[in-house]
Amino acid sequence: MNQFHAVITAIGGYVPNYRLTNEELSAMVDTSDEWITKRIGIKERRILKPEEGKGVSCLALKAIEDMQSKHRFNPLDIEAVIFATSTPDYPFPNTASLVAAQTGMTKAMCFDLEAACSGFLYALDVANAFIISGKYKKVMVIAGDQLSVVTDYTDRNTCPIFADGCGCTLVERSDDDNGIIDTIMCADGSTPEHLHQYGGGSVNPASHESVDKHLHYIWQEGKVVFKHAVSNMVDACDQLLKRNHLNKEEINWVVPHQANLRIIDSVTNYLDIPREKVMINIEHYGNTSAASIPLCLWDWEKQLKKGDRILLTAFGAGFTWGAVYLKWGYDTNA
Ligand code: UT7
Repeated sequence: MNQFHAVITAIGGYVPNYRLTNEELSAMVDTSDEWITKRIGIKERRILKPEEGKGVSCLALKAIEDMQSKHRFNPLDIEAVIFATSTPDYPFPNTASLVAAQTGMTKAMCFDLEAACSGFLYALDVANAFIISGKYKKVMVIAGDQLSVVTDYTDRNTCPIFADGCGCTLVERSDDDNGIIDTIMCADGSTPEHLHQYGGGSVNPASHESVDKHLHYIWQEGKVVFKHAVSNMVDACDQLLKRNHLNKEEINWVVPHQANLRIIDSVTNYLDIPREKVMINIEHYGNTSAASIPLCLWDWEKQLKKGDRILLTAFGAGFTWGAVYLKWGYDTNA
């Protein structure tokens, strides 16, 4: 039995202003609003344009500003900043440090965490471990991606899916029963060929050749990723439900990673959770990778009640996947 729980006490979010619609994409590649809506469930996605700013840190600063507008906290009290992202501003310095410096979180240890679309869950698990160990009391978990910079807008297999956005959560020590109850995090790196961005790292540093070969863009074998996503998210959720002796009726909300509406429906159908308990905003935001789960919590914040039982689940490149069972920590209107 843990002495403390780690609980989310505040949430912030931001999506850029520009809406890239299916109609606009249809003029760029051979696709249609009908195909994208039916096969993926996306109508529009938000894209950060240079006029609004540059880099994922720009999205994070706005998300933190949004959090501060609802829940004032002293930035000097934050002891760790974890930034889950696959699209940091630079390979180094890490984006967590840049954001911390600009928001006054100057007493915190800062690092980025890369677990693709599972990044928010991985970061939450690390924050949870930091807090229940007794070492830290306040951790800022940021999860954001600017996938538009690694999306190939000549490839119809990937360009309708990906988008930009950022969410952040303040995770604090709590002595009551609410907070993170259990987590499962998994990875299998044996088949990176199914989903990757091979350029820009130490194997394929940027070169004329890497650019010509489109190695700096996301590439995926959609059908294979789809199957792994469904089976692994179902498995992780099932394990959490069983080992916490939970009936599906006791779950108030399921928050799945927003990769494809058909993936979300398959997972929740297997788990036998009705649609009205499932947070879905993929239609408006697309797949924002690490940001998708916190952006759902952000959109639904006003409907959440203290003590609500929530199941989060994600799957992404790596492959990485996992699930978190938590009890919500606050009433927004309290
Ligand atoms: O965030 C975690 C990582 N990503 C995911 O979880 C994504 C997982 N995968 C998926 O969401 C889906 O597999 C996709 C949306 C990527 C693709 O959907 P699909 O139903 O698996 O389509 P498919 O790749 O099997 O393609 C079916 C057909 C093909 O045509 P043919 O060969 O049957 O003639 C494709 O060329 O649809 C075609 N197609 C398109 N047609 C119109 C593929 N993309 C498009 C498009 N517009 N954008």
